[in-house]
Amino acid sequence: MKITVFGTGYVGLVTGSCLADVGHNVICMDVDADRIARLEAGEMPIFEPGLAAMVERNVEAGRLSFTTDARSAVAFGVLQFIAVGTPPDEDGGADLQYVLAVADTIGRYMNDYRVIVDKSTVPVGTADRVHQRVAGALESRGVALEYDVCSNPEFLKEGAAIEDFTRGARIIVGTDSDRVQELMRDCYAPYNRNHDKLMFMDVRAAELTKYAANAMLATKISFMNEIANLAERLGADIEAVRRGIGSDPRIGYHFIYPGCGYGGSCFPKDVQALARTAHQNDYHAELLDAVEHVNDRQKRTLFQKLSRAFDGELAGRTIALWGLAFKPNTDDMREAPSRTLMEALWAAGARVQAYDPEAMQECRRIYGERDDLTLVADRVQAVQGADALVIVTEWKEFRTLDFEWLKSQLSLPVLIDGRNLYDPETVREAGLMYYAVGRGKSL
Ligand code: NAD
Ligand code: UGA
Repeated sequence: MKITVFGTGYVGLVTGSCLADVGHNVICMDVDADRIARLEAGEMPIFEPGLAAMVERNVEAGRLSFTTDARSAVAFGVLQFIAVGTPPDEDGGADLQYVLAVADTIGRYMNDYRVIVDKSTVPVGTADRVHQRVAGALESRGVALEYDVCSNPEFLKEGAAIEDFTRGARIIVGTDSDRVQELMRDCYAPYNRNHDKLMFMDVRAAELTKYAANAMLATKISFMNEIANLAERLGADIEAVRRGIGSDPRIGYHFIYPGCGYGGSCFPKDVQALARTAHQNDYHAELLDAVEHVNDRQKRTLFQKLSRAFDGELAGRTIALWGLAFKPNTDDMREAPSRTLMEALWAAGARVQAYDPEAMQECRRIYGERDDLTLVADRVQAVQGADALVIVTEWKEFRTLDFEWLKSQLSLPVLIDGRNLYDPETVREAGLMYYAVGRGKSL
């Protein structure tokens, strides 16, 4: 099958290479010429485990190619996936300019039947808008061509994107057309062999399913963070509580890890955008507002704990950070809790000495060179000469730690753990002051 994918970010590149990997012929189009040049040179624009090898083998096999040429991209695939960004606009809604620009492009160049597949996360009603934009473009060309628009939201997680795409729990397709159903079945058939994961529904339900899924997961996290904060005040251990409630299959173990708040390019923007959609439809989504509010507050807790440990005197201090990415196995720092912490530390006059296995280049890109930020080559260097250590991202390599050694490195033996990596008793026995999330009495 011939497939075109617009956008070569996390979703576009993963979609394009996974579909090529099962034998489809795929062209990925991006307006970012630099990104396409890098991809053509075999360089990955993002860090995603397994992706580089998958791209390479499919390019070599001649099934995957990259272009900036919109005309040839539209001419190529009967399926035209839209996988471009939908960042927040100034009201917290989803900015659809990139999605609609692709719709215009398809309308401008198509000469045959096309299925436009919305894979970007878009508010309910967007498929109708895409439909109208294509109609407008065709009308201005004075041509009448058949086309369909369907919704096929993506549920992959960064860091596990290939696994999620290829073995996802479900494949949602919003359409009322039999022809589209058949084409989408063909497209996903290689990933739909053992049991039927394809779920067809109406377009609006598919669009809402994506937001509902992210909002539900974000709600679980904010709920657990709320209970963890309470546990701290009550002297209870949230890890025991987590296991205690997770064992109930109606609750489940997934996405109930308390921490320093959810980040990334999706939960924050999607919770906000759904609340905005509700507002535009005269409904105040109070729960969604609370989920967002609790998360914003949670992101500030690392700084508050540090500040209390130093009696509010952080000026001139050097704070070591382990982890900058919003979660492990990615270099993505969008909405990362590390950013909230670093910016608060800088405002308080402290210096940051940080290490992350993948996100340091991204950190430099965001903050540039500054006197109060030192990026170091490993976790050992990060704590040298530091006053305290904060764990912000739970990279695997941080899971073991020689606490005696750490104590000997820090001026004030303070370990703030935003990801509950260690056993509080063991850490405290080593003489460190250990403050995690919801693990017994806090500062
Ligand atoms: P991204 O920012 O990583 O990549 C978007 C790409 O689209 C960029 O390379 C950009 O240059 C390109 N682009 C912009 N306008 C274009 C145009 N007119 N034609 C062709 N390319 C164009 O975005 P992403 O993280 O891949 O997210 C894409 C969408 O998927 C968003 O709606 C997001 O919410 C959703 N989503 C993301 C994830 C994730 O884990 N990142 C998971 C599921 C869904
Ligand atoms: C999330 C969803 O999990 C994907 O299903 C969805 O496709 C994607 O958003 C999207 O729409 O873009 P992602 O943001 O890549 O994926 O990462 P997650 O693993 O969901 O983590 C998000 C944030 O929640 C991270 O900051 C993580 O540390 C935090 N988190 C996650 C917790 O604090 N506790 C948990 O139990 C789980």
